[in-house]
Amino acid sequence: MWDRDLGGHERTLLHQSNLGRSCARATGMAANRFPYSFDRVATDYDTAWALPDDILDPVISCIAKLCRGGRLLEVGVGTGRLAIPLQREGVAVIGTDVSRRMLTLGRRKGAESLFLADAHRLPLADKVVRTAMTNRVLHLLSSWPAALAEICRVTSGRYLSVLERASADPDVDAEYIRLVQDAGSNTRRPGIYERELVNQLRPVETFDIRVVDAVVPASYLISMLEKRVYSSQWNIPEEVHRAAIRSVCDKFDGQQVSTRNDGQIVTWTIDSMHEFLEN
Ligand SMILES: C[S@@+](CC[C@H](N)C(=O)[O-])C[C@H]1O[C@@H](n2cnc3c(N)ncnc32)[C@H](O)[C@@H]1O
Repeated sequence: MWDRDLGGHERTLLHQSNLGRSCARATGMAANRFPYSFDRVATDYDTAWALPDDILDPVISCIAKLCRGGRLLEVGVGTGRLAIPLQREGVAVIGTDVSRRMLTLGRRKGAESLFLADAHRLPLADKVVRTAMTNRVLHLLSSWPAALAEICRVTSGRYLSVLERASADPDVDAEYIRLVQDAGSNTRRPGIYERELVNQLRPVETFDIRVVDAVVPASYLISMLEKRVYSSQWNIPEEVHRAAIRSVCDKFDGQQVSTRNDGQIVTWTIDSMHEFLEN
């Protein structure tokens, strides 16, 4: 199942005592060095970002086919939203993240091989995994090219991402963002969205994810906004946030929202990614 040995770093990764020391170092730095650690929203993460089974199942089987026989690294693995079903499909997934709480929740749900590590400094030997992926992570990293270069260092074959797309009518989230931006708040994250990377470097393969329509109460979407589960909300001053929540409540509470989820899985070769990062 494993494509290559982890080399000298395997002991650091796999021995609990060493992992404990590496966790202690990483959490000591967390507050300053990892402003986009998801520690603060870990308990709400799985509710806010749940994927319908109609989407999750084909995504998992597509990635499992792409990774057959090789090890997969997910950087910014979170609570194992994708890593856990992939492990259940038999894929040898290693997950890394800077959020201790996200990793703890992932382990509680049954995820294996999760490690506290920064995307820019992966405790892995060169070319030790065949495939690497990030999902909803690069936009959190101001130095995303350095993180991608580090991911390429440890990967021999391909890098992939699941580009989820969601739309809503009426668009409660967009209205909230408009209100806070009009009040002068910056909702932009420091990095690049994986879906924007597609415009900079053409993927070698693209697999469409099926469209799934649903209806949800606006009150549910507002409750997620109210808890500031989205990283775009983390720098908004409290009074601006409160005023925007009051406005969206007045406008949408009691309504039903039609949602549409779809997207693509895209892959790049590590060679093409290297070339892109060098230019
Ligand atoms: C939106 S969540 C995505 C989690 C998972 N990939 C998924 O699709 O469910 C982003 C994750 O990136 C992690 N993260 C933020 N900065 C990071 C860094 N410098 N290195 C590794 N992970 C990081 C966060 O802690 C969080 O768990």
